[in-house]
Amino acid sequence: MTDQPRLPLTKPTIPFGDVEADIRTILESGQLTSGRFVSDFEASVASFVGVDHAVAVTSATTALHLALVCAGVKPGDDVLVSDFTFPATANVVLQQGATPVLVDSLPDGFELSVEDLEARLTPATTAIIAVDPFGQPADHRRLENIADAHNLTLIADAACSLGAIRDNRQAGAHGDVGCFSFHPRKTITCGEGGMLTTNNEELADKARTLRSHGAERTPTGIVFNEAGYNYRLSEIQAALGLSQMRRVDEILDDRRQTAHTFEDLLADTDGVTVPQAPADTNWAYQSFVVVLDDYLSRADVVAHMAAENIETTIGTYACHQHGAYTSFTGSRALPNSARFGNQALTLPLLPSMTRAQIDRTVTALHAAIDSALQQATQHKAA
Ligand SMILES: Cc1ncc(COP(=O)(O)O)c(C=O)c1O
Repeated sequence: MTDQPRLPLTKPTIPFGDVEADIRTILESGQLTSGRFVSDFEASVASFVGVDHAVAVTSATTALHLALVCAGVKPGDDVLVSDFTFPATANVVLQQGATPVLVDSLPDGFELSVEDLEARLTPATTAIIAVDPFGQPADHRRLENIADAHNLTLIADAACSLGAIRDNRQAGAHGDVGCFSFHPRKTITCGEGGMLTTNNEELADKARTLRSHGAERTPTGIVFNEAGYNYRLSEIQAALGLSQMRRVDEILDDRRQTAHTFEDLLADTDGVTVPQAPADTNWAYQSFVVVLDDYLSRADVVAHMAAENIETTIGTYACHQHGAYTSFTGSRALPNSARFGNQALTLPLLPSMTRAQIDRTVTALHAAIDSALQQATQHKAA
């Protein structure tokens, strides 16, 4: 054991002084939902992402769900979905009564394989949900071409990728609609929260109506033409998000600097692969995730790091390895996603992480790998 302080995976940093005046304004106004702070937060995200419309909702999950509803996805439809993702991405498809068709990753990174996706298209396919894992945008330009050719709606699950850039476009500006998360493990957080981003005015209007029960204002009063949901973000949540949007460039620079230091220090580490960003891409590093070689037990590495008081965890889930989704793999295997599901490892990436904290993490990881390797060798010899 160690007497060193705990290094968690991350810790949101919202100085109280950044929100104090806004929270007082909200409480004194009595307008706790659907007010100026939600509108300002939407305007700030739309302008940062470079799209015409942003619609604030309660989470990325509800943003994804609304995107499917707006796209008209219905029972009987197939929706192509990244397999290597947090399962919310597949859950919303099932909640619409449609079938998620799980798609593999590339072998050398977490990115969605466009070739595998094309091979899984069916006559029933109506939409794609392409994930930007850990702030690493999918190859949306190629996906847009496929979506256009087959008349599909392309939804970017940008839950983790606020601030990432690919093809000179911000994450959230790809495809027909982008969906962000503001959960505490994301780059900026509202506690809970989400946002749809789009250039499609009709889609944005529909999403605004459906997030608030389907209520439409007419000159003669409110009417309900379609049953909607309550997916509204509160004013206080919006004020938290807005305060971080005011310094989003600084937050992103800080995360990138830490991630690049990790990349340099881990570049030649045996047993660890550090995925590399494609040339046309600037990742946002919502998390810093590496891949352990197959001969190393990830559970042993996580336990060793925990004994050093350093939190590490899996990357994310290979959905097809979990009971709720095993029937959605089709006839093709998902070998790359399966390997990442077993061997991807998230290291701490804290705001303003010091060089000493980074060095401590890297030293502990080297020792954890040596120890896991010894255990693997002993296991083999026994
Ligand atoms: C890729 C992806 N999609 C969707 C979600 C769901 O986000 P939320 O918790 O905001 O609903 C997450 C959350 O981790 C995620 O990583």
